[in-house]
Amino acid sequence: MPLLLTRKDVEQVLTMKDAIAAVEEGFRQLALGNVTMPQRTVIRIPEHHGIHLGMPAYMGGTEGGESLALKVVTVYHDNPSKFGLPTTIGTLLLNDPHTGALVAIMDAGFLTAMRTGAASGVATKYLAREDARSLGLFGAGVQARTQLMAVCEVRSIDRVILYDLNEEAREKFAAEMSERLSIPIEPTEDPQTCVENDIIVAATSSSTPIFEGSWVEEGTHINGIGSHTPQTRELDTETIQNAKVVTDYISACLAEAGDLIIPIQEGAISEDHIHASLGEIVAGLKPGRESVGEITLFKSVGLAVQDAATAVRVYELAQAAGVGEEVEI
Ligand SMILES: NC(=O)c1ccc[n+]([C@@H]2O[C@H](COP(=O)([O-])OP(=O)(O)OC[C@H]3O[C@@H](n4cnc5c(N)ncnc54)[C@H](O)[C@@H]3O)[C@@H](O)[C@H]2O)c1
Repeated sequence: MPLLLTRKDVEQVLTMKDAIAAVEEGFRQLALGNVTMPQRTVIRIPEHHGIHLGMPAYMGGTEGGESLALKVVTVYHDNPSKFGLPTTIGTLLLNDPHTGALVAIMDAGFLTAMRTGAASGVATKYLAREDARSLGLFGAGVQARTQLMAVCEVRSIDRVILYDLNEEAREKFAAEMSERLSIPIEPTEDPQTCVENDIIVAATSSSTPIFEGSWVEEGTHINGIGSHTPQTRELDTETIQNAKVVTDYISACLAEAGDLIIPIQEGAISEDHIHASLGEIVAGLKPGRESVGEITLFKSVGLAVQDAATAVRVYELAQAAGVGEEVEI
């Protein structure tokens, strides 16, 4: 019988350390050609300012970590203000790759935030300077929390500057996360102060650039995770032009990431400006950071393989801990 895992169940078993290990393996298998992952389906619902994404993937290649999964996720930007609901809501079906039988149904809201954080964790591990200590965080929402957790997992961060348009969200985030991670978090009203750090995370729902590329200092690493439609972007053309650009997956970003598509359409960069997909660096097929001074940028739109790799780990952890409820369907 399939195991039903609620959001609380997933929260109980999944740590950021486990999520980073699972997602890193997912990226490696993707680069090695062991993942089947069609471009996700996108249904736009402009009447309600939302989108619906269907994200299937099969991950092979790993001893014991094989996974077959489908996540359905919606992104409704007005949810927090209008309905008190999260922007991102998801559910995932996990199948047995040998038989196709359904083995788990799990909430994928927390899972999405964890695997999105984990992708930035993997990127930061391979691309940020080893001595990176300060983090500028744009966004005080759901994704920003797990972005912060992930960066702190892979670098010894001792200072966090936080910028969000919403002052209340800023203050709440700073109080909650500084206590949880025992790190000082300084909310600011000045986006430039937020940029002047060793690592920058852009995790907002903005559809236009949130800072100026001219503010970014040499040696910075940037994770850009917020925008994922061709017409929207968080990063300006100058930021993209000045950076060594690594994507979660080149073809997915060329289909969805306005941060890259808009500068290409402007003629400011060509597709060749994209250095690699992250998995190529993880698998040792391409170099990561090559000098102290270069600006590195990880752009993610989110991949089904991240969900598949994380979900099978959640299932294993839940089984081992006796968490979840078996249900007949
Ligand atoms: N790359 C991925 O894999 C991935 C995965 C999940 C979600 N996302 C995207 O990440 C974004 C954030 O998602 P969330 O769930 O955290 O949303 P959220 O609504 O919880 O938080 C977004 C925050 O951004 C702030 N914001 C908006 N415009 C801003 C600006 N110009 N400057 C500073 N702050 C600004 C808002 O005030 C809000 O606090 C969404 O666009 C979502 O689609 C990406």
